[in-house]
Amino acid sequence: MRDVRTIWWDDGIRMIDQTRLPAELVTIKIETVQDLCEAILSLRIRGAPALGAAGAYGVALAAICSRSIAPEDLLRDLDRAGDIIKSTRPTAVNLSWGVDRVRKAVAGADDADADEIRDAALNEAERVADEDVAVNRALGDIGAELLEDGDVVLTHCNAGRLACVDWGTALGVIRSATEQGKDIRVYACETRPLNQGSRLTAWELVEDKIPATLICDSMAGMVMRQGLVNKVIVGADRITCDAVFNKVGTYAHAVLAKEHGIPFYVVAPLSTFDLGQREEDIVIEERDPDEVRWAGGVQLAPSKVKVYNPAFDATPLDKVTGIITEKGIIERADMVRGL
Ligand code: MRU
Repeated sequence: MRDVRTIWWDDGIRMIDQTRLPAELVTIKIETVQDLCEAILSLRIRGAPALGAAGAYGVALAAICSRSIAPEDLLRDLDRAGDIIKSTRPTAVNLSWGVDRVRKAVAGADDADADEIRDAALNEAERVADEDVAVNRALGDIGAELLEDGDVVLTHCNAGRLACVDWGTALGVIRSATEQGKDIRVYACETRPLNQGSRLTAWELVEDKIPATLICDSMAGMVMRQGLVNKVIVGADRITCDAVFNKVGTYAHAVLAKEHGIPFYVVAPLSTFDLGQREEDIVIEERDPDEVRWAGGVQLAPSKVKVYNPAFDATPLDKVTGIITEKGIIERADMVRGL
């Protein structure tokens, strides 16, 4: 696992199929934009930074698949493909950011021919992926300073290497602290309905031999009350000027952490910030009701019961102790003054 990125270019987009974990580590090759959209929608690839790379590689793939010869036709194809890719998941801002990075890199290429545009698109996508790894390492180095030997951290969803190109944001901080020789233990919340915590975070921690305990989401309050954790660290899908959007359930952990005097940290690259927007401007993705009615092929609820299945929630910044970015830590006092 150490040498394998979550997503990379290999004559097409190659990615770990995260729907197959933890049972098996399988990679798939994506050769069309349509298949990429299916992979994003079905969470074969997921997690904000990994989606940024998927968006960037998706535009490069569209360039390579396009039969257009005239540069203006090719650029129009890229724009169209980018819009389709962006529409698959509306909340995680990195997807749009990755698409736009590549579109902008080729947009002004009036004097380039079609092959030069294809090369430029792929080069920019590779840069997006490489930068993600470097940024995650920086997040890890900065965030690890907040962790002390013996800390026990609660985390939600998966903000590990599987959510990024490599290393991870929230789990990256834990990984970096562990690499520095600190003894860090983790409580991983299972993260219903799609269980990114039990399927992916628990798998990553077991792979890396970082001591981990899996709990159901509903156990977090009791675990905090019993004093079993002393920090909460999560990732983010979008940070507006007033809130952190992350996997649904994060808000409850933040409220509980504040009630119990436990620091609540968010780890996110600057590409996740969207400070021109407020909480109410953001569309929260609502997913298939059957994700709640069913789990692992077993029916858990009547087919006709009404379901509410938002994929993300918003945590107001006054509940956040600090946001760790690759440029440093933003403290709560600065957040309250205005991001
Ligand atoms: O629906 P998902 O699995 O894409 O949601 C992922 C999360 O909410 C992660 O916590 C977030 O993307 C942070 S990733 C480093």
